[in-house]
Amino acid sequence: MLTLETLPTVMSTQRAESLDVERVREDFPILDRQVGGDVSNPGAGPDDTTPLVYLDNGATSQTPERVIDAISKYYREYNANVHRGVHHLSQEASIAYEAAHDRLAEFVGAGGREEMVFTKNTTEAMNLIAYSWGLEELGPGDDVVLTEMEHHASLVTWQQIAKRTGAEVKYIAIDDDGRLDMDHARELIGEDTEMVSVVHVSNVLGTVNPIADLADLAHEHDSYIFADGAQAVPNRPVDVEELDVDFYAFSGHKMCGPTGIGCLYGRKSILEEIQPFLYGGDMIRKVTFEESTWNELPWKFEAGTPLIAQGVALAEAADYLEEIGMERIQRHETELADYAMEQLEGFDDIEIYGPPRGEDRSGLVSFNLDSVHAHDLASIMNDYAVAIRAGDHCTQPLHETLGTAASARASFYLYNTREEVDTLVEAIDSARQLFA
Ligand SMILES: Cc1ncc(COP(=O)(O)O)c(C=O)c1O
Repeated sequence: MLTLETLPTVMSTQRAESLDVERVREDFPILDRQVGGDVSNPGAGPDDTTPLVYLDNGATSQTPERVIDAISKYYREYNANVHRGVHHLSQEASIAYEAAHDRLAEFVGAGGREEMVFTKNTTEAMNLIAYSWGLEELGPGDDVVLTEMEHHASLVTWQQIAKRTGAEVKYIAIDDDGRLDMDHARELIGEDTEMVSVVHVSNVLGTVNPIADLADLAHEHDSYIFADGAQAVPNRPVDVEELDVDFYAFSGHKMCGPTGIGCLYGRKSILEEIQPFLYGGDMIRKVTFEESTWNELPWKFEAGTPLIAQGVALAEAADYLEEIGMERIQRHETELADYAMEQLEGFDDIEIYGPPRGEDRSGLVSFNLDSVHAHDLASIMNDYAVAIRAGDHCTQPLHETLGTAASARASFYLYNTREEVDTLVEAIDSARQLFA
């Protein structure tokens, strides 16, 4: 385990606990980019003249050089299919790919590689369980309990599986500050509940949900609990055993890793019992013309040629984040979000969604201005080279609850600075004045 002294990216002279953001920024080549020119030819062009302020980390994070190098090294030095060859490169690739499962399992406190399935993303991890377990096990009279703040990845998936099985989906309400109504949770989670599927950290409200309490409630009623950690694992320490969840999902591209890979943690005893989601090569043990049996965990759930380059690169991303320290990252982005909220609260025509500043909330701020539609705002921000997101953020029902079709969202990460927050706030102010 690394110590403070060995961490090049951590400031030891100032506050021992804070990040040396300028040093961290050097790890991310894309942060040197200027933008503003022709977008039809990706990559920096001659008309790109404004320094990028990237505040769309909730959608996807940027990639440090060493993760890019890990992908490049794989293709340059040991690109081969895994589990299928005795030749040297195949063995190297297999060992690295399997070790990546161990690394990601360790990163979230899972028991080992048997509990860590690589998927395409969080969405596929949800679908895997919904199809493998839900389609088989749910039926009329069964409840699946979600929350009003679910991402479509979970909401649409369980909604559709419920339609096919006759189960009912129920939604735990949120209060005016965007927290879960736990009394309502206690009302809804009962004898008929078979699955509680809850977002750990809301991608719109920034709310951090009490997953361990919900796990207790679910287990009291012999229900499983699935937590969506897409906005949690990149930004805070997560331990699935402490949370006592049965399933937990997250995406590589939101945690400094590559696109195209996600992770599904599943309790070993359950993964052993349920059927595979995808069938084909590598997930089998023995096949005859009549019958097939399944490979051991986690390969039983990874049919076909898996995400080899992505897997080894995601393990590198996990190393990178852990060396910097998840607590530090959490503290840094919460401070930035607090700082942004403090300034934005000075505008009299703004509505900020989610729990108040100072509470345990994640490093993002979603809001609406009275005078400017969220899409127009994001477009004006783009003139300042500030990348934020506008829309429903894949939470249309939540936005209906909030009484709006869309919101603007700035989401911070380890490489963002207070100066970038100032640029954001100045740009928002200019937009207000333009539309006033
Ligand atoms: C809370 C939450 N859940 C699920 C997802 C889906 O992630 P992916 O698109 O990587 O599957 C996202 C993505 O924004 C998210 O924020």
